[in-house]
Amino acid sequence: TPPSENTIRLGDTGRGLRAAAAMLRDGRLVAFPTETVYGLGADATDARAVAAIFAAKGRPRFNPLIVHVPDLAAAEALAEFDHDAQILADAFWPGPLTLVLPRRAGAPLADLVTAGLPSVALRVPAHPVARALLRAFGGPLAGPSANASGRISPTTADHVLHSLGGRIAGVIDAGPTGVGVESTIIGVTDGVPRLLRPGGLPAEAIEAALRRPLSPPVAAEGITAPGQLGSHYAPGVRLILDADVAVAGALWLAFGPLAGRRGLSLSDSRDLTEAAAHLFAHLHALDAEARAAGLDRVLVDPVPETGLGRAINDRLRRAAAPRPGEDRAKDG
Ligand code: TXA
Ligand code: MG
Repeated sequence: TPPSENTIRLGDTGRGLRAAAAMLRDGRLVAFPTETVYGLGADATDARAVAAIFAAKGRPRFNPLIVHVPDLAAAEALAEFDHDAQILADAFWPGPLTLVLPRRAGAPLADLVTAGLPSVALRVPAHPVARALLRAFGGPLAGPSANASGRISPTTADHVLHSLGGRIAGVIDAGPTGVGVESTIIGVTDGVPRLLRPGGLPAEAIEAALRRPLSPPVAAEGITAPGQLGSHYAPGVRLILDADVAVAGALWLAFGPLAGRRGLSLSDSRDLTEAAAHLFAHLHALDAEARAAGLDRVLVDPVPETGLGRAINDRLRRAAAPRPGEDRAKDG
């Protein structure tokens, strides 16, 4: 376990950002906002700092991490862009898109960042505070979501502190994130653009820019992505998806009006963008409410499988999946 630290809540302007950059230069961990979720930042060129990310998150194995850079020029120093990758970077960076690309020979990255793979995941975030931090720090930042391994991703600084407080040096508090689900990950390593993880940028928009459909991941790529392990983003309570039976006293995660039910709605007007922004915060809140009320499950309305609905359903299915070592047959 990592040494206990006094995690500092940092402001999102001048002094706070300078303090954060200094901590990062010291090889320490600082969580920072992006437009998707909060990331756990470390100097991507410093092997010890990157190793500390795995320790703080309690990640069971060395999965590759996303490297955040300020712009395309910085990305091109680390990876090779083919024509498709160029199109996607031009169309969607800065923004909620991560590209997995062939790592450039001699790229100054700690090998642990890519878990020894010949590819690297790169992202140019759009959040003004993430961009200001990248400028202040002046190098690439490794940044997985700032939550303990296997738990719900954080969309507020409080979520980060609940999950990682005492294990990291600081968190920059810039309020709730806008998009609410992680970036869409596209692999462009073999001449075929592949959807490795649905996310905050709808796949339809990517296919329109490329003028062709995305392909599924090849098996080996799938295995490297913890987003693709069965149980991920797991709250403590059981989620029952596509629920349609009213159970007296049940707690609901609604899509559309609650209409007298107990719980929270992702979006009263069934707006998928609003729903994505609320998803993780509502899961955190319902988890706490269920625990306090002695309830063991939360019922979830169906969400349409289009646009951001694909990312929302992907996260809901993972949150509902059985945990490793858990026998669901027993409790039906
Ligand atoms: O929105 C986001 O993407 C957030 C913010 C903080 O940027 N970050 C995030 O990182 O979600 P993380 O580590 O929780 O998820 C990164 C995903 C993992 O599923 C990882 O396996 C995959 O990216 N990944 C990273 N490098 C890869 C590579 N070379 N090949 C295949 N998958 C890769
Ligand atoms: Mg994550």
